Amino acid sequence: MAQLKLSNLAKHFGAAVAVEHVDLEVRDGELVALLGPSGCGKTTTLRMVAGFVEPTAGQILIGGKDVTHAPPYARDTGMVFQSYALFPHMSVAQNVAFGLEMRRMGRAEREQGVLEALKLVKLDHLAERLPRELSGGQQQRVALARALAVNPSVFLLDEPLSNLDAKLRSEVRLQIRSLQQRLGLTTLIVTHDQEEALTMADRLVVMDRGKVLQVGTAEELYERPANAFVAGFVGRCNLISGFVDPGGVFRTDWGGEFAVPQESAPGKAIFALRPERVALRPGTGHGIPGRISAITYLGSLSEYHVDVSGNSFLVSMPPPPNDSPLRCLKIGDQVSLTWDVAAVRLLPFEPSSNQGEEP
Ligand SMILES: Nc1ncnc2c1ncn2[C@@H]1O[C@H](COP(=O)(O)OP(=O)(O)OP(=O)(O)O)[C@@H](O)[C@H]1O
Ligand SMILES: [Mg+2]
Repeated sequence: MAQLKLSNLAKHFGAAVAVEHVDLEVRDGELVALLGPSGCGKTTTLRMVAGFVEPTAGQILIGGKDVTHAPPYARDTGMVFQSYALFPHMSVAQNVAFGLEMRRMGRAEREQGVLEALKLVKLDHLAERLPRELSGGQQQRVALARALAVNPSVFLLDEPLSNLDAKLRSEVRLQIRSLQQRLGLTTLIVTHDQEEALTMADRLVVMDRGKVLQVGTAEELYERPANAFVAGFVGRCNLISGFVDPGGVFRTDWGGEFAVPQESAPGKAIFALRPERVALRPGTGHGIPGRISAITYLGSLSEYHVDVSGNSFLVSMPPPPNDSPLRCLKIGDQVSLTWDVAAVRLLPFEPSSNQGEEP
């Protein structure tokens, strides 16, 4: 069993808290993505798992073994770094051999390991090249081979696609995922790109300001976000702060009144509604009145930005057919917005990352 378990993991740099109270389990063969904005502690978490950063508190278990204070080479992890960090003066083969040398492996065994790892990423024919003689995508695959060569129990990837263009990115993304599934690698990948996380991961971890806000499948995070930060970070969401009155009325801070489920608990809250759950009709009198401020055509989707009493509401839908009255809508037109009350989620007013600074 090669599962990874983090318990109450923390890292402070002097007075600055980079990571705090991180509890996380990555199951055997599972790919989990750490997702969050720049500076939220993703790299620090991964480096603690790899052994390059000493935790301030907490515990790291790999396959049930406590490795919290073990050196990197004794952890059975393979890591791909944020800027893939190949050694420029070493050939592809020497780069891939690096981790094996660190583990004091004999020459014949090492050469075999290098060849196997390069075959995995289909680069065995370029073993003698230098990194600068490779394309970006090929360099990326050398970095993957270097991490895989040590036959890790836990595979760690820090934004492995960040230096690739959009097309190469989706290609390498698929390669990593199929390699990971074929080898059954327990994998923790860092990204700040939600699309990358949604397409690759079995489960996602949303972090903000050093803390884990929510862990779940893409669908769980999208359909049942724990707070406004997660709702806004995984997919797009209309988020409006206000107050729930008894009887299913939500009063926005700017005086609007929206229907919410009858049984909603009264009090301050954030009204959350996905843009594809809002219906839009030309003219007034059929729902919440607004005015179109922008229309974006995205191929498979059209997005309408609707100004409602000075607040922007996002509505998305497949492009309307040619004979639809929506087809003629233009900026400045009056429209009405409606939605099914069941599509509304009321989220806690304070994002959980601001709550409880317990010691
Ligand atoms: N060696 C260090 N000394 C002091 N502070 C550090 C150190 N390394 C990281 N930090 C701080 O810890 C916080 C988390 O950094 P980290 O690199 O983990 O973020 P990240 O989520 O990986 O961000 P990005 O998406 O930009 O890579 C940041 O505020 C950063 O400035
Ligand atoms: Mg980082």
